[in-house]
Amino acid sequence: MEIAPFQTEQFFARYEFNTPWQLCNSDCETVSVAELLDLAGVPLGRLGRQRLSYSESRGATELREAIASGYRTVQPDEAVVLGAPVEGIYLLARALIEPGDEVVVLTPAYDALVNLFEHVAGTDRVRRWRLRPSGGTWTLDLDELRSLLTPATRLLVVNFPHNPTGYLPTPDWQRQLVALTEEFGLTLFADEMYFGLVHSGTPPIPSMADAHGSAVVLSGLSKTHGLPGLRCGWLVARDPDLRARLMNWKYYTSICAPVLTEYLAVAALKARDTLTRRNLERIERNLAVADAFFARWPDRFEWRRPVAGSTALVGFDVPSVAALSERLAREEGVLIQSAAMLGSDDRHMRIGLGRDGFAEALGRFEDWLQRQ
Ligand SMILES: Cc1ncc(COP(=O)(O)O)c(C=O)c1O
Repeated sequence: MEIAPFQTEQFFARYEFNTPWQLCNSDCETVSVAELLDLAGVPLGRLGRQRLSYSESRGATELREAIASGYRTVQPDEAVVLGAPVEGIYLLARALIEPGDEVVVLTPAYDALVNLFEHVAGTDRVRRWRLRPSGGTWTLDLDELRSLLTPATRLLVVNFPHNPTGYLPTPDWQRQLVALTEEFGLTLFADEMYFGLVHSGTPPIPSMADAHGSAVVLSGLSKTHGLPGLRCGWLVARDPDLRARLMNWKYYTSICAPVLTEYLAVAALKARDTLTRRNLERIERNLAVADAFFARWPDRFEWRRPVAGSTALVGFDVPSVAALSERLAREEGVLIQSAAMLGSDDRHMRIGLGRDGFAEALGRFEDWLQRQ
């Protein structure tokens, strides 16, 4: 059965490792293994003694304990460690969706959050709930969500902090969303890959794992902690039957996480506060650079400042960001991403604010703008 092209990953496969100035990465700045272990107070030498066996399929106990300690109400047995964060979306789609089920997904979105559900449920059974621009910010309308629900709706897929807009609900709005999913008996799947990246001035919200007794939550170390190379992710799933089905699918996809990943993930979770704080500081610095840049180019860009996460969705007054991005990558070594591939449109681009090279890359981009 066909599946839609994974446009974001195809784009990054073409350009991520050969384009020097990158403006659109969703992950935050990374660290070396030595620096990570140092931050966690774990001697580097111990890594060399790790045995390269299989690991426990649902995740090493020590890692699941460390994961659970990051939530208020989650028990170690309720976490399923993944082979990679993106795998969790596939496992959930496979384990949950039955023929005839309908799904509502937030859009724009990271491709997998839409395409995998369309693949499993059928394209005509996935409805899109749109984040809409409203003045200088983004909003989501609960009445619009209600209008998308039918008796067949089984699952609601959300992602907060949101990639790409940087939207985060208020605590009150989050409570209203939880109440609505309970009223309609929906399973709530919350992608929280950017959890903890809450910009100054924005009220934080609890994880959906703590706010909603039966939500399924995806999280991991790729974005907030800047460790995408670990490929460490997990699902929190309270329902033991659903967990058993997730595990059965996982035996077909990865069986268990790599032991070295689990070892380093335990260290990363010891250092999580430092890693998160440093990346938030980077994002705040880059946001100040972005504010100044967009203030200089008010006619070319529509800047809606994100309130959370490491990305922003920016209107760009060109006929096609996709066409321009190919040219800019080849001719200027500057990488921008069209938001069309995220379900927005080709006159918006995603920018990534979590990397140290952001200001320099934006400078290169501005040089090009000035030459036009
Ligand atoms: C919202 C969201 N969910 C899941 C993922 C997948 O994370 P990973 O690439 O680490 O598997 C991404 C990656 O960009 C993402 O943005």
